Amino acid sequence: MSNVKLLSGENVPLEMHKVRMVQRVNLLPVEDRLKCMQEAGFNTFLLKNQDIFLDMLTDSGVNAMSENQYAAMMQADDSYAGSETFFRLESVLQDIFGMKHFLPAHQGRACENIIAQTFVKPGSVVLMNYHFTTTKAHITVMGGSVEEIIVDEALKTSSDMPFKGDINIDRLNEAINRLGKEKIAFMRIEAAANLVGGQPVSMDNMREVSRICRQHGILLVCDASLLADNLYFIKTRDEKYKNVDIKEITREIASFMDIVYFSARKLGSARGGGILVSDDALFLKMRELVPLFEGFLTYGGMSVREMEAMAVGMRETMDIDIISQTPIFVEALCNELLTKGVPVVTPPGGLGCHVDAGLFCEHIPETQYRAGALAAAMFIGGGVRGMERGTLSEQRNDDGTERIADMELLRLALPKRVFTLSQVKYTADRIAWLFKNRHLIGGLEFVEEPKVLRFFFGRLKPIGNWPELLAAQFRKDFGESL
Ligand code: F0G
Repeated sequence: MSNVKLLSGENVPLEMHKVRMVQRVNLLPVEDRLKCMQEAGFNTFLLKNQDIFLDMLTDSGVNAMSENQYAAMMQADDSYAGSETFFRLESVLQDIFGMKHFLPAHQGRACENIIAQTFVKPGSVVLMNYHFTTTKAHITVMGGSVEEIIVDEALKTSSDMPFKGDINIDRLNEAINRLGKEKIAFMRIEAAANLVGGQPVSMDNMREVSRICRQHGILLVCDASLLADNLYFIKTRDEKYKNVDIKEITREIASFMDIVYFSARKLGSARGGGILVSDDALFLKMRELVPLFEGFLTYGGMSVREMEAMAVGMRETMDIDIISQTPIFVEALCNELLTKGVPVVTPPGGLGCHVDAGLFCEHIPETQYRAGALAAAMFIGGGVRGMERGTLSEQRNDDGTERIADMELLRLALPKRVFTLSQVKYTADRIAWLFKNRHLIGGLEFVEEPKVLRFFFGRLKPIGNWPELLAAQFRKDFGESL
């Protein structure tokens, strides 16, 4: 693995690749960053990429691809039906997951749409460790509801539990007894659990959940969008899997599931998605929706070039040196912040460092979007774009009141192999500066609030003139520095 020790004893998260293509980035002066944030309605989704220094919004569709992925894109077979590219991708996925059928879809939420359309009926419940925004939206649109049965520890930001994405088995049994199997559309395991900080699910937990679901005849679905991180954590945090090959771990996970779906914008570092299923009847139930919503069965709305890149990316995901890159950088960023007293989610998870905005911005009322405010402050303070993962990302209750999120997080995603260690250190420094000046950060309120997935394109304004005061403090502390 690529964590090496220096003479000083310090562990360094070493890159096991070299950079051969680069993109120029701009670091604007603080006054311009403030102006850009104002123009973006204090919503980091509405910033323009040319104004951003380090884009840590997401790891979705923005991971660095390998030379072999680019090379594979050149041999794509662009036929509407029966494309060779499809069969190449299908056979890679069958080999890795050991599942029989593959249904292509244009991205993760498209898979969620197909699964929800097929299995969710008005009044049905989907049990899951934790929701993801798009997953929940698809289930509720179909008239179903979501019940989260993650272990209690998952909602404590500070913890030393290695697998905080685990399902609470007692609550699973209780929910099955209370609801009855007929009411449960399916059980969903998100590996790893994104919104609680990219926290992994243990193999033992998946095995037990699978046993219970099979005993009751309940469908088990795995959201494998963040599987690469989960595989890394099983190998490094579960002694029993220390010497087990990544592919074997993948196969074991898949053997517990009825359906596996993924966003290939994350898993496999390309752009696209797909559903894997072994049972013929389940396959046929979902299959008809692919041409209806996505495209013909041999491309499913994806570019064949991306499908070739995905096939190679999936194979590369079986290499521990490749999948370790993000988690070891996340750990480095979290550790650096912890030494500066900044509250972050521990243990460090996959996909990014999650700052506990609830604690960071304790002085801001809960209904004024603490994590959203911190995301705006982070851009003003450092040109770094993170993502709010808290109350702003929730939908309001039916009576119009705010649904206060379980966790109020600012996510600083580290797309795979994109950033250098000096950029990570710079980010830690600017967060530490914000933490010192956190009393300057104030709340936000909506100016335009969409009804569905409001965080994507809602516009907000600051309560008071705190952004100006923050920018002025930056000038005072950093002088001429950008
Ligand atoms: N499931 C999980 C666990 C995800 O993290 C995502 C996307 C999806 C499903 C939906 O996939 O974007 O391809 O439609 N997560 C991105 C993120 C958007 O930034 O965390 P998609």
